[in-house]
Amino acid sequence: MPTRIRLATLGELDRLLALDQVASREMTRVAAVRRAVEASSCWVADEGGRLLGYALLNKAFFGFDFIELIYVASSIRRRGVGRALIEHVERESTTAKLFTSTNESNVAMRGLLTKLGYEWSGVIYNLDKNDPEFIFVKLSAIT
Ligand SMILES: CC(C)(COP(=O)(O)OP(=O)(O)OC[C@H]1O[C@@H](n2cnc3c(N)ncnc32)[C@H](O)[C@@H]1OP(=O)(O)O)[C@@H](O)C(=O)NCCC(=O)NCCS
Repeated sequence: MPTRIRLATLGELDRLLALDQVASREMTRVAAVRRAVEASSCWVADEGGRLLGYALLNKAFFGFDFIELIYVASSIRRRGVGRALIEHVERESTTAKLFTSTNESNVAMRGLLTKLGYEWSGVIYNLDKNDPEFIFVKLSAIT
């Protein structure tokens, strides 16, 4: 069955959050996903009604778009869903630079970003203890 990337709806918020059972109990994660769904900035990967993952786009990072979060259900990783979500968000992005970030320790996300042509763009310390946040950017053709 083909995977379709589409906007998420408020009615499926609980199912989206349940993809990550730890984060679904974190109030900051719940609030971020809800805010993005309400702002039509949350896209979901849907395979015949089964939710595989989601991506949140924040429109307010120093005047540029920022991929705030991408999440793929652990059972279906390494099947191209993360890539499909990011490539979709890139098409939805309207700014010349598209930023995102991940922890230094996140080998999977760093690998995905490198594969998709993102460049390292800086580091923020003191968010997570002993695990700096790396900023990445994709420079698009939009001028
Ligand atoms: C990061 C994440 C979104 C990747 O999703 P995914 O669907 O597994 O990624 P894809 O299958 O599209 O991978 C595409 C490419 O990314 C790279 N990649 C993905 N996972 C990787 C891993 N564990 N190690 C190294 N490279 C990896 C590879 O180059 C891969 O291509 P390949 O499979 O042909 O080698 C997923 O691991 C995830 O949801 N992690 C938990 C949430 C998270 O950490 N989000 C990022 C911070 S916001």
